[in-house]
Amino acid sequence: MTALTVEGLLGGYAAADHVVKGVSLAVAPGELVCVIGPNGAGKSTVLKLLTGLLRPRGGRVALDGRDVTGLPPRAVLEAGMVLVPQERNVFGTLTVEENLAMGCFLDARRARSRMAAVMDRFPLLAERRRQLARTMSGGQRQILAMGQALMSEPRVLLLDEPTAGLSPKAATDLFGLVRATAASGVAVLMVEQNALQAMEISDRALVLVDGRNAHEGPAPALARDPAIRRLFLGGRGEGRMDATGTARETSP
Ligand SMILES: Nc1ncnc2c1ncn2[C@@H]1O[C@H](COP(=O)(O)OP(=O)(O)O)[C@@H](O)[C@H]1O
Ligand SMILES: [Mg+2]
Repeated sequence: MTALTVEGLLGGYAAADHVVKGVSLAVAPGELVCVIGPNGAGKSTVLKLLTGLLRPRGGRVALDGRDVTGLPPRAVLEAGMVLVPQERNVFGTLTVEENLAMGCFLDARRARSRMAAVMDRFPLLAERRRQLARTMSGGQRQILAMGQALMSEPRVLLLDEPTAGLSPKAATDLFGLVRATAASGVAVLMVEQNALQAMEISDRALVLVDGRNAHEGPAPALARDPAIRRLFLGGRGEGRMDATGTARETSP
């Protein structure tokens, strides 16, 4: 059975103006699915609609078969789905340990054992347990944000552009940790700008254009599909798309 099932999701900000216009997807336990697409396609909005930060206007969201459509954020977290937003995802004035504890506020009695498990998974966090988050590098803070999310022992982990602003080395390292997290049995749905690299490490990819499913399939194969490659800016293979999700000519 899939851990996360989304059918015909509809939603947006201004009344009567949908940004997400019928998105469907599924993620199984242990699977890594990436969502890619041009800026403004509605990727972050999908994540908000899934986690109760924005109320869906239509469609259905199920976790392990249980309908969680439209539940408030805390109830979604209790049901087993957690979001690492793109920005402001750690508390800069708190230490690593304090940040991790914040990820377990629903079940403080279990914080100690869960922190040990997260530090075991991400040894960098054990080494830096008393360091203030704001003194860490961008890559280290992303690892902390992911560790904080895992403190709730989620069935489904949602990541919004975890490698944004990171060096290529830090991005590759982070992708490795995302891959390992999925391999531990968590269903991971990752929104990424770094589309080609994201497809290389994912099981499946969903290309979102103008709030709708535009392409989907097994990810490494999709990354090599000429039609999909034409959707992305060529050049150094950064894999960014233009605003319409269509091909843009690049000079050799
Ligand atoms: N808080 C908001 N209020 C109004 N419009 C928004 C808000 N956030 C995003 N939008 C609009 O919704 C559309 C999709 O945005 P978003 O989901 O952030 O796209 P993506 O993450 O794919 O770049 C864009 O047109 C954006 O301007
Ligand atoms: Mg976004």
